[in-house]
Amino acid sequence: MTEGMADARPYGVLAMAEYARSSAVTDEVLTALGGFAEVDPGLLVADFADPAHAGALARAEFLVSGWGCPPLTAEALDRMPKLRVNVHAAGSVKHHTTEEVWRRGIAVSSAADANAVPVAEYTRAVIILALKRAFALSAGLSTEGWPSPDNRVPAGVVSRTVGLVGASRIGRLVIERLRDLGVRLVLSDPYLTAAEAAELGCELVDLDELVSTSDVVSLHAPELPETRHLMDGRRLAMMRDHAVLVNTARGSLVDTEALAKECASGRLDAVLDVTDPEPIPREHVLLTLPNVFVTPHLAGAQGTEIALLGSYAVADLRRFLAGEAMLGAVDIADLPRLA
Ligand SMILES: NC(=O)c1ccc[n+]([C@@H]2O[C@H](COP(=O)([O-])OP(=O)(O)OC[C@H]3O[C@@H](n4cnc5c(N)ncnc54)[C@H](O)[C@@H]3O)[C@@H](O)[C@H]2O)c1
Repeated sequence: MTEGMADARPYGVLAMAEYARSSAVTDEVLTALGGFAEVDPGLLVADFADPAHAGALARAEFLVSGWGCPPLTAEALDRMPKLRVNVHAAGSVKHHTTEEVWRRGIAVSSAADANAVPVAEYTRAVIILALKRAFALSAGLSTEGWPSPDNRVPAGVVSRTVGLVGASRIGRLVIERLRDLGVRLVLSDPYLTAAEAAELGCELVDLDELVSTSDVVSLHAPELPETRHLMDGRRLAMMRDHAVLVNTARGSLVDTEALAKECASGRLDAVLDVTDPEPIPREHVLLTLPNVFVTPHLAGAQGTEIALLGSYAVADLRRFLAGEAMLGAVDIADLPRLA
C-alpha cells in the first residue's frame, strides 16, 4: 500500500475475555484475518461503554466475539454504527446477542459446528468405554481387586442399542461416529421425521420408548424450557437395568438427585460432562460412586482445539466479506430450538 493511503480493508474489533482471545485468536488466526481485513490485535474490547474504545468501535464493520463478549445491547450497537457482521469464535450466540442485533440486520455466525467435533469425539470414546463397563471396573480395581467374569451384567459394544436424544449438530456427528461400531441406533427429536432419521441410519422413536430400550442414552438436546428435566425420575426409572446415561449436553436436562439415587443403588451407570448444579459440589454423592464418571465440562474444545473456533470464525468472516454465505450463519427464527 502507498504510504499515507488509507487501508481499504474492512476494519473490525475483537470482543471477548483475555483467556478466550489467547486460545481462540492465535497468531496463525490473526495472520489469516490480516490477509483480508484489519484489526488491532492489541485491542480487546471487554466493555463497549469504555470511552477508550469509542474510536475503534465507531469504525468497526465487523466484530469477532468469543467467550466473555459483553451483550450487544442497543446502547453498545449505537457505538458501532457501521457494524455489518458478528462472527463468534465460540458456540452459542445466546449469551451476547440481543433482539437489537437481528432488528438491525447484523449478520451473525457461530463456530458451534467446530466446537461440536470434540464433543462428538468425547461421546464416542465414553460410549465405548461405558459399554465395556470400563469406568466401574477401573474404579473397583483398588477396592474390589481384579474382577471375576460376571455374565449377569451386560458388557460389550457390538449389538447393543444406543439411544440419542437430539439430532442436533453434535447428535448428528455422534451418529456418524457410531456407525462403524455395529450398534443399533435409535433417535428421539421432535423436529425430525422418521424418513430423516432413517437417512441418518437411525430409527425415530419417542423418548419413552428410547429410554426403555437403550443400553446407552446419550443426551444432545439444547437447554430449553421444554428440555428441563427431560430425564426426570420417571424416565430414569424406565431405563434398563445397568444402562448408562451419558450427558454432554447441559446438566438441567437431568434430575440430578433422581439420577444419584439410581446410580447409588447400582441400577444405572452415568458419564456426566455437565451437571446441575455446575460445578457439582465436591461432597456430592455422584462423585463418590465407582459407576459414575464425571468430567468438568471439557467435552467441547479445550487447549489446542480452541484455535479451531477462531479459524472457523475468521473463515466465515472472509466468506461474508466476499459476498458468500457463511457456513455458521445463525437465523433468529431457529434460535428457540438451538443451543
Ligand atoms: N459439553 C460441552 O462442552 C458442550 C459443548 C458444546 C455444546 N454442548 C451442548 O450440547 C448440546 C447440543 O449442542 P448443539 O450445538 O449440537 O445443539 P443444536 O443447537 O444444534 O441443537 C438444536 C437441535 O436440537 C434438537 N432438539 C431441540 N429440542 C429438542 C428436544 N426437546 N428433544 C430432542 N431434540 C431436540 C433439534 O434437532 C434442534 O434443531 C447442547 O445442550 C449444548 O449446550 C456441550
